[in-house]
Amino acid sequence: MKKFLKKILLTGGAGFIGTNVTKYLVRKYPQYLIVNLDKLTYAGNLTNLTDIENQPNYTFVKGDILDSNLLNRLFETYRFDTVLHLAAESHVDRSIESPGNFVRTNVLGTVNLLNTARKHWKNPEGKLFYHISTDEVYGSLGDEGQFTETTCYDPRSPYAASKAASDHFVRAYMHTYGLPVVISNCSNNYGPYQFPEKLIPLMINNIIEEKPLPVYGRGQNVRDWLYVEDHARAIDLIMHKGRPGETYNIGGNNERKNIDVVEKLCEITDELLGRSPAGISKGLIRFVQDRAGHDWRYAIDTTKIKNQLGWQPEVDFEEGIRKTVRWYLNNRDWLKKVTTGEYRTYYEKMYKNKGL
Ligand code: NAD
Ligand code: DAU
Repeated sequence: MKKFLKKILLTGGAGFIGTNVTKYLVRKYPQYLIVNLDKLTYAGNLTNLTDIENQPNYTFVKGDILDSNLLNRLFETYRFDTVLHLAAESHVDRSIESPGNFVRTNVLGTVNLLNTARKHWKNPEGKLFYHISTDEVYGSLGDEGQFTETTCYDPRSPYAASKAASDHFVRAYMHTYGLPVVISNCSNNYGPYQFPEKLIPLMINNIIEEKPLPVYGRGQNVRDWLYVEDHARAIDLIMHKGRPGETYNIGGNNERKNIDVVEKLCEITDELLGRSPAGISKGLIRFVQDRAGHDWRYAIDTTKIKNQLGWQPEVDFEEGIRKTVRWYLNNRDWLKKVTTGEYRTYYEKMYKNKGL
């Protein structure tokens, strides 16, 4: 095997953030080997990666992070020094329907990866197990305040609980076994390749197709939005400069009420589609039954990553959201492809449940 400066096992690289991070790293670091391990669940899509699939520093392996034999074989073959762990079940609404899948992949899968890394990394020097996690582990904010790295964990959805549990296991493996780990907790990402079950791509898809736009409750819940390439830059920086044992919060400094996001999407999508007047799609908005246990607000204090690593978001919301809508409009084949099959069943059931 060619000699690479770093050998990275990246899990979940065919999902939304994984695709963006994989492409970013493969292109930026030809001297690093990136092995993308992904089970290709409904959320994973190999066609996202066709433009890098023949790069000499990139390999794809279809498989499950719960498969210990496979993980052992991969560690033996590639002798990884870095694990970038992104594979997860990631959608809160699905976790409310079927929490078991979230326990399996997010908790047991993470522990399985930790065990494998521990077994193969007898000498922890130069090794790093990096868990990509979420701000949802901190729970829900009222109208004031922000999450910091020392905010107590208070997960409130099955998804958040599974990510909190996996964060705890990651830290426990450092304290107990000396495994070098780092964790980042990030706010809501948006951008190309996001599966259209999440707010922004779901709304764009429905605006294009002139379908109802289901806004939970009165649309007053607040999320902090981060353009996915800014997240990829932060992950790159933390992988190289983050201190083992530390946690870094990543956020977009971009708080928005859901209803404002949906209205903005109507305006931009209409404008780019030449619909007149721009914003006419707001007539498709339907206020539907709220999400069970719906977290009110997330906001991130990004002081630590800014002061210690010099990172801050570069793409503001106006620019990012326009780029995002344009990407989905230019990639309608991708949207069509991912909204067939298993997704259609999920989507139809969800709409029926919402009375739409
Ligand atoms: P995603 O659902 O788009 O992608 C998840 C990927 O993991 C898919 O490609 C899927 O096939 C793969 N996967 C699932 N189970 C697997 C298993 N058992 N073995 C191997 N692969 C498996 O998720 P995303 O939005 O890209 O999120 C990636 C990571 O970032 C997750 O850990 C998530 O918790 C975290 N995160 C996401 C956000 C966000 O806004 N999307 C914000 C903060 C943190
Ligand atoms: O904060 C980080 C988290 O952000 C990540 O860890 C999760 O993986 C990611 O899915 C995301 O979680 P949210 O629940 O915040 O994202 P979602 O896109 O599902 O919803 C965003 C907001 O929009 C939330 O307040 C619920 C609301 N919503 C969502 C959908 C799908 C609606 O009003 N209508 C909808 O149809």
